[in-house]
Amino acid sequence: MIVLGIETSCDETAAAIVAATRQGPRILSNQLRAQFAEHAPFGGVVPEIAARAHLDHLDTLIGRTLAEANVTLAEIDGVAATVGPGLIGGLIVGTMMAKGIAWGAGKPFIAVNHLEGHALTSRLTNGVDFPYLLLLVSGGHCQLLLCAGVGRYTCLGTTLDDSAGETFDKTAKLIGLGYPGGPAIERTANEGNAYRFVLPRPLKGRPGCDFSFSGLKTAVRRLIADGGGLDFGDTADLAASVQLAICDALIDRTANAVDWFRRHHPEGTTLVAAGGVAANEQLRRRLAALADGAGLRFVAPPPALCTDNAAMIAWVGIERLLLGLVNHLDAALHPRWPLNIGAPQRPGAEVTWSRE
Ligand code: KG4
Ligand code: ZN
Repeated sequence: MIVLGIETSCDETAAAIVAATRQGPRILSNQLRAQFAEHAPFGGVVPEIAARAHLDHLDTLIGRTLAEANVTLAEIDGVAATVGPGLIGGLIVGTMMAKGIAWGAGKPFIAVNHLEGHALTSRLTNGVDFPYLLLLVSGGHCQLLLCAGVGRYTCLGTTLDDSAGETFDKTAKLIGLGYPGGPAIERTANEGNAYRFVLPRPLKGRPGCDFSFSGLKTAVRRLIADGGGLDFGDTADLAASVQLAICDALIDRTANAVDWFRRHHPEGTTLVAAGGVAANEQLRRRLAALADGAGLRFVAPPPALCTDNAAMIAWVGIERLLLGLVNHLDAALHPRWPLNIGAPQRPGAEVTWSRE
């Protein structure tokens, strides 16, 4: 089975072809064009600019991915595209393109939730079996989830304010580092002393699996205002302190989820991390240690498959196609679309979202 995946929900234009073979999944091509240069002057993603850039580059990227994979449209089994959550302009560009190709080539269309792309990537890269515990940390989301099956997710905790990725991005902007903030903070932190600045670890030590990061952002803003400017040494120390505080908070909340997972799902063997922030080296190292201490395996996709990409969308296409979960060509877009739509955000409230 071979699926073409298209991802345009934020500031990466991406197209990929993934195959399910007897030997396991294979990424035949994974093309991506980031829009950092277009958005950098604004310090964040500008939706209108993103949509136009997707429009300018998506067809070239799809052509390139078909050529690299050496397959024709006649040889693919389905076209999958992100239909949400994300920026509406970009979602329209990617979804209309995917529906057009599906119709023209007479192939099924699969409407993909971007978060399910992140959630299932570890099955593509490492063949992880359900159920597993997932820390999903991206720019837009920060959640701990029980993944029980395709389309079956229970949210154990979510953020009360900002996501971890947003916190990296916003503090990087305050410190004067570039966009996106996560990689910039990680690079700069390598030269810094993480114990120089004392920053809050919101909700640390409290029961439950929710997150909160707005206090951390405010503390960084105050530090900078009180300090009256930063030299390079300060910048590196502050970046290192921010990274440590975010990782401390993520590890603390994940530890509570691990306890819950081991008690309620003794058959589960794996802690998974996904989303852009899961590319962070310190976070990966500490999650691995946490899993090890609890007798679990830790899996995180390679960094390039943690950040947004289309291979994960093609993979969801394959998983759904294998279950017969295809969509009509009038499938709607969902700019806001939680993984466990309509569910109370607590364990025991599992909800399956069905085909349209
Ligand atoms: O999953 P993703 O590519 O896009 C969304 O779905 O949001 O995640 C992007 C987020 C950004 O906030 C970015 O700063 C963060 O992931 N990020 C990182 C790293 N690489 C990307 N955060 C910390 N360390 C990194 N190495
Ligand atoms: Zn993402």
